[in-house]
Amino acid sequence: MRMETDRLLLRPWEPRDLDPFATLNADPEVMRFFPSTRTREETTELIERTTSLLAERDMSFLAVEEKASGDFVGMVGLAPVGPPMPCAPAVEIGWRLAKHHWGKGYAQEAARAWLAYGFGTLALPEIVAFTFVGNTPSRRVMERLGMTRDPADDFEHPGIAAGHPIRPHVLYRLKAADFRA
Ligand SMILES: CC(C)(COP(=O)(O)OP(=O)(O)OC[C@H]1O[C@@H](n2cnc3c(N)ncnc32)[C@H](O)[C@@H]1OP(=O)(O)O)[C@@H](O)C(=O)NCCC(=O)NCCS
Repeated sequence: MRMETDRLLLRPWEPRDLDPFATLNADPEVMRFFPSTRTREETTELIERTTSLLAERDMSFLAVEEKASGDFVGMVGLAPVGPPMPCAPAVEIGWRLAKHHWGKGYAQEAARAWLAYGFGTLALPEIVAFTFVGNTPSRRVMERLGMTRDPADDFEHPGIAAGHPIRPHVLYRLKAADFRA
């Protein structure tokens, strides 16, 4: 599966992505709103998991490449959300970009392609996104995409230890009809 936007190519993982993606996942600033950075082995596992998900569900996190340079930008995609997440069952949209590609509107641009695919090809009624309450850049992307937050949906992430500072999460939703409008 491949999708193209004005400036980006969204495509399955290739072996040449491992080095830049492992560097991204080991960057403490990129990962500051996650419980920890990821090792190279964990990056390999993540690529394998997202590759299997794409085959099983016709959705996943794809590698994002800058068309003009061929440079690796990061990953953006859709994934099913299951229990014990309080919003389950749902489909979430998410993004993680290398620092040198922040501030260019790339997360938003790649996400719009996925939203069009999710609401169009997959005919999903709703797509959600969630993040640590203090992750302002990610929340700004959600808001620019037209997603809205109901504070009643705020939750403590069940996969993060009780008392951990990044456990409080916000949930944003976007309905198919609101995306089309
Ligand atoms: C979250 C993350 C992807 C956001 O990246 P980002 O570059 O801020 O987001 P965008 O790609 O949408 O870029 C938006 C910015 O680019 C600017 N921009 C420049 N050219 C643009 C264009 N053509 N179109 C839109 N925005 C543009 C915008 O002004 C905006 O800046 P602002 O937020 O200061 O107003 C990035 O911070 C990241 O990877 N964080 C670490 C991982 C993470 O936390 N992921 C989310 C976990 S839930």
